[in-house]
This record gives sequence, C-alpha cells and structure tokens, in this order.
Amino acid sequence: MQEMKLKQIIKNAIIQKAAPLGFDEFMNLALYYPAKGYYTGGKQKFGEQGDFITAPEVSDLFGFCLAKQCAELLKKDDDLLEFGAGSGILAAQILFELGRIGKLPRTYYILELSAELRQRQKQTLKKVLPELMDKIVWLDSLPQRFCGLVIANEVLDAMPAKRLINENGSFKELGVDCQNDNLVWQTLTPYKNRKILLPTEVETGYITEVNERAIAWINSLGDFIDTGFVLLIDYGMGRDEYFHPQRTAGTLQCHYQHKTTDNPFVHIGEQDITTSVNFSDIADAATSSGFDIAGYGTQAMFLISLGIEQYLAAEKDEKRHSNLAQQIKLLVLPSAMGESFKILALSKNQQAVKLSGFKEQDLTHKL
Ligand SMILES: C[S@@+](CC[C@H](N)C(=O)[O-])C[C@H]1O[C@@H](n2cnc3c(N)ncnc32)[C@H](O)[C@@H]1O
Repeated sequence: MQEMKLKQIIKNAIIQKAAPLGFDEFMNLALYYPAKGYYTGGKQKFGEQGDFITAPEVSDLFGFCLAKQCAELLKKDDDLLEFGAGSGILAAQILFELGRIGKLPRTYYILELSAELRQRQKQTLKKVLPELMDKIVWLDSLPQRFCGLVIANEVLDAMPAKRLINENGSFKELGVDCQNDNLVWQTLTPYKNRKILLPTEVETGYITEVNERAIAWINSLGDFIDTGFVLLIDYGMGRDEYFHPQRTAGTLQCHYQHKTTDNPFVHIGEQDITTSVNFSDIADAATSSGFDIAGYGTQAMFLISLGIEQYLAAEKDEKRHSNLAQQIKLLVLPSAMGESFKILALSKNQQAVKLSGFKEQDLTHKL
C-alpha cells in the first residue's frame, strides 16, 4: 500500500514538472518524503529485522572506541553534535563510555531529519541512559555557532546524489521519468558543475555519481563550527578508486531485507537507497570551508588504533567473549566492514595534533 502511494506521488511530481526528475530529486522523495519516505516512515530499518546493519548496531565496541577518540578531542565545555542518529544506539554507546571515563560533553545534541527516528532515538536513550536524558537535546535546525565535536556515521551516503552517464567523453545527468506508468532512467542534459572533478578517460556508458548535497552540507558545517573537530564515518573511497575505469556502473546500492540491488524503482519507501562517498570531494569541500584534514583511514585500522582488542581481552565471560570476537570480525575484517568503511577527521582552528585513531594508519595522501 505504502509503496504504491509514494510511487504515485513521485509520478505526479514528474507530471507536474513536465520533465524527468534528477536522480537526487527522486532519491530525496524516496527517502525523505514526509511520513512516507524510507527514513521518515515507520518501518524497522536497522538490524536483523530491518534492511541493513550499521556498525553501532553490530557492536557496542564501535561506539566505545569512537568515544575514546571523542574523549581525546573534547575540551572542557565543548558540546557534541551527532547528525542522523538512526536508532539512537551510537549516542547511547558514546555517552555511556564517555560517562565511564569521566569525559561527558556539556550537551549531546542530535540533529535528525526524520521525526519518526527522533522518537525512536528518544525511546532508546530513555531506556538505556535515563540518568543522562537532561544532557541530550534534539535540534530542529543547524546551530548558529558551535564549539566541539561533530560526528556522522553513515549519513553522507544517505544524502541524495546525482547520477551521471558518460556519452562520447562528456557526462550527462541521468534522471527519472515515467513511461507507460513505470519509472525509468532517462538521460538528461550535459552535467555542467565545473567545481566537481570527473574522470576524463572513461568509455561511453560509464556511470558514476556526484553528491552536491553532501558538499553543500560540509560547507554549512564550515559556517557554524567555530572551533572543533568533525568525524565522518561511511563507506566510500578516494577519487582515484571512486572513478576507477572498471567501476562502470557507479556505486548506487539499494538495501531491502538484507539484499542489495541497484534498482531504486522497486520497494519505493520500503528500501534504502545509497551511494558511496567520494571522500576526495568531501575533503576538498572541507578544506575550502576552513577545515584542515586531521586524518583518514579504514574503519579497521581506526578501531584497532583505538584498542578495540583491549575490550575483548577484558571480557572474562566465555560466551560474551566469543560474541565480542564475532562482532569485532564484522567490524574489522576486509571482507566485512573493515576496509570499505573509512573515517575522515576534520579540524577547525586547532593546533596540528595526531589523533589516536590514526596511530596505525593515515591515508590522507590517498584523498
Ligand atoms: C544509514 S542511517 C545511519 C543511522 C545511524 N547513524 C547509524 O549509524 O546507525 C542515515 C541517517 O542519516 C539521517 N540523515 C540523512 N541526511 C541527514 C541530514 N542532512 N541531517 C541529519 N540527518 C540526516 C537519516 O534520517 C538517518 O537517520
């Protein structure tokens, strides 16, 4: 029922525009249309009962390690701001661990686009950390000014991207049209954003994505952060790998009940739609918005640098030890999340420091 309704809304948007939608416009409606989009609707998204699993849903150790990095960066009276907090589990893990080591931020802000997820986050945090609820504040819009630490896990990949196709050496936008009552891909006009670097030596038919909204979001962080750090965690890669000649079909992925396809026109409003992050574009936007790059590496080496194995060693209960060992494998093995996920750290108005999370590896030169 829900699928048909949102699909019809999208078709109507195409009819009203009297032209195909850009893929970013389509993705925005499919994920964020009020109350009916994938993130704004009531569906269970995360975990085994949902469509995909994120690192904090895999293991508390992810959030505990991130908290260790946060503790090193948070100064007295600093705030922490998490974007797109999902089920609220990462906030719970970070606050729990920061509380344990006596480094709680002044306020833990959450900025979440989805009203439904905001409710879910409140429920999770009330259940797990009732004593810290007065530290947590949900924001409706970006703050005017901010000093402290911003984190976003798997948020950039959920920002609507444009899809492009190469035709005889130049790129055109791929849009979404309605034909015979079906949604179909449609090649649009030449893509003309000169600020975005695109591959030059690829064949006709080569498809890729650019995420102008993610770039604009980074620029907006530059506007309101006075001093502090940003930690961005997501699946993605540097430009060379992103535009590898063999990556001919781009990075679009749709997740439905733990199955992955590249068809965004089915299960509309019921499936997640994502594209990988071009971390070079993000780093370029960050440096032109007043940030310095404070480190870039794989999730595996970040968690290892922050001592994920020490948590395992400290667990004496045999069953819990074996569960943790399984979770660590999922987080760090290259065949699971270890290599495809990266951490990009940005700093603003800070002395140059080496973050503990990049002790074992810093791939900034690959951006
Ligand atoms: C893939 S989920 C990740 C959830 C959570 N961070 C986790 O790791 O489990 C993406 C989240 O980002 C949110 N989101 C997307 N764009 C956003 C934006 N511009 N500002 C705030 N939240 C955003 C979505 O509503 C959703 O909660």
